[in-house]
Amino acid sequence: MKLLTPLQLGKLHLRNRVVMAPMTRNRADARGVVGATTVRYYAQRATAGLVITEATNISEEAKGYPMTPGIWSAEQVEAWKAVTSAVHAAGGTIVMQLWHTGRVGHSDVRDGRVPVAPSAIAIEGQQHFTPTGPKPYEVPRALTTDEVRATVDDYERGARNAKAAGFDGVELHGAFGYLPNEFLVDGANQRTDAYGGSVENRARFVLEVMQRLVAVWGDGRVGIRLSPTLAYNGMVDTDPLATFSYLLERLNAMPLAYLHLMRATPDAGRFPSWPRDTIATFGPLFRGALVVNGGYDRDAAEAVVTSGAAHAVSFGAPFVSNPDLVHRLESGAPLATPDRNTFYQGGERGYVDYPALDADPPQAPKGYWLVQATITDPAQFAKYAAAAGPVIASYGGRAIARGDVAEVVEGTVPRRPYFVEFPSHAAARACYRSAGYEDAIALRSGAAHFDVVIVEGTGG
Ligand SMILES: Cc1cc2nc3c(=O)[nH]c(=O)nc-3n(C[C@H](O)[C@H](O)[C@H](O)COP(=O)(O)O)c2cc1C
Repeated sequence: MKLLTPLQLGKLHLRNRVVMAPMTRNRADARGVVGATTVRYYAQRATAGLVITEATNISEEAKGYPMTPGIWSAEQVEAWKAVTSAVHAAGGTIVMQLWHTGRVGHSDVRDGRVPVAPSAIAIEGQQHFTPTGPKPYEVPRALTTDEVRATVDDYERGARNAKAAGFDGVELHGAFGYLPNEFLVDGANQRTDAYGGSVENRARFVLEVMQRLVAVWGDGRVGIRLSPTLAYNGMVDTDPLATFSYLLERLNAMPLAYLHLMRATPDAGRFPSWPRDTIATFGPLFRGALVVNGGYDRDAAEAVVTSGAAHAVSFGAPFVSNPDLVHRLESGAPLATPDRNTFYQGGERGYVDYPALDADPPQAPKGYWLVQATITDPAQFAKYAAAAGPVIASYGGRAIARGDVAEVVEGTVPRRPYFVEFPSHAAARACYRSAGYEDAIALRSGAAHFDVVIVEGTGG
C-alpha cells in the first residue's frame, strides 16, 4: 500500500503516510502539565508516520478548555520532553500543535476572564464545554493591536519551547474556529486596524505567526492546519475561496513542511456559494506537501494518496481506539470503535487501555517501575543491560532479543535504539547511579548517546 511507504515532509522523515491527527484529551493537570500516562499514550501510537500532539496552549491567555496542556512554562516543557523521548525511542516523529482558543472558551475555565478574540462577537447557536456542564458562549473581549502583536510573540515562545522539549517541528492550529481562524474569516473579524478588513489584513495575523514559527524552526519543520469550509464555531466567511486562496499563495513563499487540510464540506443549503470539494479546490493551490483529514477509512486513504491528490492522511478517532492503527491498516484487520464518552473525561480509561491486536508491550508486574531507555552506543547498552540485571527488551511494543539492533534511523550518525525495561525502581536507580546519573529517576534526557524516559511508575 502506498499509505505505508515512507515520505519526506520537508525535513520530517515519516516511515509511513499514516499521520496521527491532533486530539485534545483533557488529561493534563490544572497547570497544563502532561504526566506519565500521556507519555504512554503517545508512545503506544508512535508507529504513526507522524504524531501530531493534541492542541497545546501557547499561553495562559490561550486556554479555553479545562485540563488541556500548555507550552509556556518550564515545568510544561520538562514534562513534554518525556513524550518526545518516548516517541523517538520508538522510532517515531512528533510535532506539537500550537493552540490559542480565542473566543472558543469560557470565563469558567479562565479564572473569570472572558475569552479574547479579534472582535467582540460571540459564537451563536453552540455551547461551551465547562467543568460544570455546557454553557452559552460569552461575548469575547477584542484584542488591542498591541495585544495582537504580543500574541504573535507568545506563539514564538511556544515554538521555542517546543524545540526545547525535543519536538521535530510544530503545526499551527489554524482550523476549527480558534484564534488564527477567527482572524481569517470576516464573520468573526470586523477589526478596523491592520489585522482586519481586507483579505490581506485578515491574513496578516496567521502570516506573522507562521513567519515567527519558521524563524524559530527553519526550513521544513513547520506545518499549518486549515479548515476553509468548516462553519463550526461560527466560522462563516463571505468568500472562503478568496480568503484561503490568498493565504495559501502567501504560504507558498514559506519553506513549510506541510499543509494539513480538512476535507469538511459545508452544508449545501446553508452556504451554496462555498466550494463543495475542499481538497480538490484548495489542495492544488498549495505547492508543498499535503496532509488531508476527515473521516478517511483504509480504502479512501489509500485512494487519495495513490491518486496523488494528497501525500499523507491523518486519522483522528481511529487512533484513539487503535494504538496499532498502522499495523491494522497494513493487515486489513478490523478497527476497534472508540468510546466517545471517554474522549475528554480524564483518567486512563479510554486513553491508554485500548489494546493492540498482537503482543502488547511486555508489562512490568504490578508494583514495579517500568523505565525505558534508548542507548545508542552498543558498549553502553551492554553496560546498562548488565547493571539492570534481568531485563525485558522490547522495541515498538514487540519483544526483541536483548542487544539486537532495533533500527537504524536515517541521519548522519547511525542511531541504534535499544530498550531496557528495568524490573524495579531500585534496579533502574542502581543502573543509572553506576553510570553517574545520580538523579536518574528525574532525568528526562541525558547525554547525546543516552535518553531516559520514565514510561510508567506503578510503585516503588
Ligand atoms: C477526541 C478528539 C479531539 C480532537 N482535538 C483536536 C485538536 O486538539 N486539534 C485539532 O486540530 N483537531 C482536533 N480534533 C479533530 C481531529 O484532529 C480530526 O480532524 C477529526 O477527528 C476528524 O478525523 P477522523 O475522521 O479521522 O476522526 C479532535 C478530534 C477528536 C475525536
